Amino acid sequence: MKNLYRLDNINLNYHLNGHEIKVLKNINFEINTNERVAIMGESGSGKTSLLMLMSGLEKPTSGSIFFNQEDFSKISEKRKTEIRKKRIGLIFQQFYLIPNYTAIENVMFPMQINKINNEKKKATSLLSDIGLDHRKDNLPSELSGGEQQRVAIARAISFGPEIILADEPTGNLDTKNTKLVSDLLLKYSKKKKITLILVTHNMELAKKCDRILNIIDGRIKV
Ligand SMILES: Nc1ncnc2c1ncn2[C@@H]1O[C@H](COP(=O)(O)OP(=O)(O)O)[C@@H](O)[C@H]1O
Ligand SMILES: [Mg+2]
Repeated sequence: MKNLYRLDNINLNYHLNGHEIKVLKNINFEINTNERVAIMGESGSGKTSLLMLMSGLEKPTSGSIFFNQEDFSKISEKRKTEIRKKRIGLIFQQFYLIPNYTAIENVMFPMQINKINNEKKKATSLLSDIGLDHRKDNLPSELSGGEQQRVAIARAISFGPEIILADEPTGNLDTKNTKLVSDLLLKYSKKKKITLILVTHNMELAKKCDRILNIIDGRIKV
């Protein structure tokens, strides 16, 4: 099996009000292509920080992150942006939909920047797949939390990334939407063989992944 990510001895410290806080400590793991991995841990344990490192948006204090054998510390910011744009679907805790774009425009956006054809047709079909036909011309502010989360998922998968990094995608949702969004992510990940790394507090969802990584006080406990 191909190894998609390798994290070698990662440490991450933040400086806060003159103090140094050690957020991630000696993290080592690999993720294979087409694997579904849940990351669990208490609030403040470093889960979001780990996803930020894996997306190249944050740099570790020490250690190396390899994505498809490319060492993030050895490649340019431009190259990292290129990797994010083409290969990584990011789903943030706060959605970050473009506020003045409609649902369909948000889903089309990553396809447009990747110069993918038929983006309108593809976005329409994706939105229909996730039950948002009737909301495609609405702005994010006109959508419920669950609907915004579904749009964020459609956007993250629209351009055919190799990997999805999702930060508590069901964190703000009720039971019904949690089920809908979880099923959707797992279904797409399996159907399109997209590697899925999912931060979640939902044990039921985590158990449906191939593996669970537990972060306790900045360390991976297996
Ligand atoms: N940019 C930052 N500057 C300083 N401290 C931060 C920053 N981001 C996160 N932290 C701290 O790092 C720790 C881990 O945060 P985070 O990765 O967001 O945890 P989680 O996602 O598991 O709740 C927390 O104590 C948080 O306050
Ligand atoms: Mg978090």
